[in-house]
Amino acid sequence: MSDTSSTGSTGQVQTFAGPKGVPDYVPPASAAFHAVRSTFEDVIHKSGYGHIELPVFEDTALFARGVGESTDVVSKEMYTFEDRGGRSVTLRPEGTAGVMRSVIEHNLDRGQLPVKLTYSGPFFRYERPQAGRYRQLQQVGVEAIGVDDPTLDAEVVAMADRCYRALGLSGFRLELSTLGDETCRPQYRAKLQEFLFSLPLDEETRRRAEINPLRVLDDKRPDVREMMADAPLMPDNLSASAREHFETVTGTLDDMGVAYTLNPRLVRGLDYYTKTCFEFVHDGLGAQSGIGGGGRYDGLMAQLGGQDLSGIGFGLGVDRTVLALEAEGVSPTTGRRVDVYGVPMGADAKRRMAVIVDRLRRAGLSVDMSYGDRGLKGAMKGADRAGALFALVLGESELDKGTVVLRDLSTRQQEEVTVEDVELVVKKAVGEA
Ligand code: HAM
Repeated sequence: MSDTSSTGSTGQVQTFAGPKGVPDYVPPASAAFHAVRSTFEDVIHKSGYGHIELPVFEDTALFARGVGESTDVVSKEMYTFEDRGGRSVTLRPEGTAGVMRSVIEHNLDRGQLPVKLTYSGPFFRYERPQAGRYRQLQQVGVEAIGVDDPTLDAEVVAMADRCYRALGLSGFRLELSTLGDETCRPQYRAKLQEFLFSLPLDEETRRRAEINPLRVLDDKRPDVREMMADAPLMPDNLSASAREHFETVTGTLDDMGVAYTLNPRLVRGLDYYTKTCFEFVHDGLGAQSGIGGGGRYDGLMAQLGGQDLSGIGFGLGVDRTVLALEAEGVSPTTGRRVDVYGVPMGADAKRRMAVIVDRLRRAGLSVDMSYGDRGLKGAMKGADRAGALFALVLGESELDKGTVVLRDLSTRQQEEVTVEDVELVVKKAVGEA
């Protein structure tokens, strides 16, 4: 029986498009994606963070309890489904709740503190897709758990700043604020609600004021913004201990020379934040300007059944950072992908070239070669596309003599070398010998 679902009425096989709102990164543009992710990872590893690799889906209740039922992320954007065993599972919309689950499960918080962990990978949010807002988004994140020390807040914020600068980005700003702690946040929340309920708010906003009043501070509508001009703000309503914590964070950042803007209206989209919170904003991106963000979370571990330990972390958006680099016209890579490109002429030469290429790769060089029967011109074009520094040409006469021709693709100079010597000569040529 033929499969009618995969053929159209013309009998042609149907092609597929990727899922809506999910970017593909293909060469050559994917080089920027890769450079962003690996630069972030390098900077983070140099500050003593260990790698954690976690499931892409978790028990739905973990996110409901960890991230917060009243957030848009949980109430509107989760990819939730029942698996074949009848369990409700959810594709992770963010990383912090999963890290916390794993730390508790594996007793990592019973050892040396802080537990410093880093992760990279995809996260899933059913958002309305637009430029810079995807349904599968990529983050590199960190969590430093178990010590409530403002100097650690400064380390985390400064590290995020270094991540962007290591890429050559400069057109971003760091917005910083504090969300208070359990000694002042409840009183502030009540005060803000009292203010909000005195305003002529529409029904939906009033409901938001009841469930999550801080979110109203973030409302972008001009009429609401105008009404909110005199709203009480958290940084003006801090307890002495929360103020001292924040002053140490800002003071340490000052000493480190990390520039920031205080934004007392900064609100994060996830419920677990307390004390220090921050966002990196890039003006070249339009509406989706947040390229990364994070903060401290005092109650999260206890809320997920663990010890009452605090933590701080961030998630840097890889996709939006790629867009920010494009907006600034900064290229994080040279565009070169391989050192050497093999150009064999004919089937016998191809077989020998495959062995030479394998040897060069084992020697740590970055190498590719031409496959199929492309002819000299086609193969040289391949070398060009691969961004190679050198071509290694192997024709019939070299095959007989046991040699290859090493051609410098920028100067066009070439030399014939024996197959035995090729590794040494190539290494010398690319500056690795
Ligand atoms: P978040 O602010 O929700 O924080 O996400 C962090 C970053 O991920 C954002 O600044 C943005 O660059 C990127 N991002 C978020 N949603 C999208 C989207 N739909 N499309 C493209 N990029 C997106 C968190 O997820 C927290 N877990 C961060 C954290 C770690 N806080 C403490 N520890």
